Amino acid sequence: MQYLIRHPGRSFRVVLPALMFLIQATAACQNRVQINTDLAKDTISRNIYGHFSEHLGRCIYGGYYVGEGNTKIPNTRGIRNDVVDALRKLRIPNLRWPGGCFADTYHWKDGIGPGAKRPAIVNSWWGGVTEDNSFGTHEFLDLCEQLGAEPYITGNVGSGTVQDFAQWVQYTNSEGAGPMSALRKENGREKPWNVRFWGVGNEAWGCGGNMTAEYYANIYRTFATFIPASWKNGPLWRIASGAGSSDFHWTEVLMRDIPQGLIEGIALHHYAVDWNHKSSATGFTEAEYFETMRRALEMEDLVQRHAAIMDKYDPKKKIALVVDEWGGWYDVEPGTNPAFLYQQNTMRDAMIAGVTLNIFNNHCDRVRMANLAQTINVLQAVVLTEGERMIVTPTYHVMEMYTVHHDALLLPSSVRGGTYAVEGKSLPAVSVSASRDRSGATHISLVNIDPGHVQEVVIETRGAASSSVSGRILASGRLQDHNTFDDPSRVKPAEFAGARLDGTSLRVQLPPCSVVVLTLR
Ligand code: AHR
Repeated sequence: MQYLIRHPGRSFRVVLPALMFLIQATAACQNRVQINTDLAKDTISRNIYGHFSEHLGRCIYGGYYVGEGNTKIPNTRGIRNDVVDALRKLRIPNLRWPGGCFADTYHWKDGIGPGAKRPAIVNSWWGGVTEDNSFGTHEFLDLCEQLGAEPYITGNVGSGTVQDFAQWVQYTNSEGAGPMSALRKENGREKPWNVRFWGVGNEAWGCGGNMTAEYYANIYRTFATFIPASWKNGPLWRIASGAGSSDFHWTEVLMRDIPQGLIEGIALHHYAVDWNHKSSATGFTEAEYFETMRRALEMEDLVQRHAAIMDKYDPKKKIALVVDEWGGWYDVEPGTNPAFLYQQNTMRDAMIAGVTLNIFNNHCDRVRMANLAQTINVLQAVVLTEGERMIVTPTYHVMEMYTVHHDALLLPSSVRGGTYAVEGKSLPAVSVSASRDRSGATHISLVNIDPGHVQEVVIETRGAASSSVSGRILASGRLQDHNTFDDPSRVKPAEFAGARLDGTSLRVQLPPCSVVVLTLR
């Protein structure tokens, strides 16, 4: 593995063993992290590590679903075994479906019953391709069961009716007598699936109906009234379609106008993208990388400000902030359908994932669910497929390394120190979050977004002492490095030996552009 080390005035290309020496020798930028173990009180919900899969491009068809006949690709009831095996390692807690913009055009009854009787429709949002409805409610819920993930279904508000929505909930959840449970049984499923998470429309301010916040708040109240408030093991989550990035007015109006008993979550969408200048997914410049990271780090401010509005109306934090679309968005791969949003995934994406998940962990008192857009072959995917072949991306590896934080106790932390500067603008170079799991082990995830400098981090842990440290790292020589079908393991995690316990403090050398997860016992 080769690394490019930049130091004032010159740069070196080095191989891995030499890198460890250079890390010691290079005067690294200093950072101080404080972990306040004694202030721990909130749990990082595993649902922060959710995913999003839409009927868009090759996410569902070709990604998850190949159908049972006519394919050499090994599958279980039409769902690819290789994909399920890879995704199970991420312990995906919840999966959002069927959209996205597609959700507000989707009529769920088109996607149940015998395949031959399901109508074909046009997917008007994503390329006008034929949607044959072969992947519908039963197939999605089968997928969730194969993955061990909880389903998160977004219902159609923009072009659907209150009755359709309420009947979908009855179809999936009702045990007793009634036409919807009878229909489900007729279609081969005796027991209800008990779906807890329901999105009430998607991007109602845009593709979901171009509504004003005030209008949507009223519509929401009607829909939410007819969606049952209880679920098998507690409250059912009705999640309001939330703001796009910095539309704080949207959150304010929804919090003000929707009575608390009618809402369990409010969404937020934010992509790390400059809409006027999306860059190439692999051929980007350092200035473009810097801009992507600036947009990704905006999530900190967005979460803080939307949460502050929510605090005003809901000081007990009963309503969750659900960031159900986030990730990087670039130009599509040359030669692919522009409406399919197929993009490669590099170390830049690993950086986005690392810093964003740290932000969510650190705000787990309010952010109790989030969904990366999108799981397979679309936007910041964790899996890419090409016919029978499948690879995992740098983002996949970050998600896998961060599974240690699922349902762990957040250890509040702060970081002071180095900056990453390009063309006179700067960002904090190091991002951190920490948690303690049920076995008592502490996990610290650190990201150095600076592609040119090692960051030395001195970590003080208040209120706890440890006797051993181990770690894993995801790093690569160039920001643009990525996995391909011919070179599927170019970017993958390795053991990390750059952390040293020194009494009560921990000294870590973070290589340029790296994600490190440490375990202290
Ligand atoms: O994730 C792609 C699209 O981005 C979704 O369909 C929509 O909700 C958002 O604008």
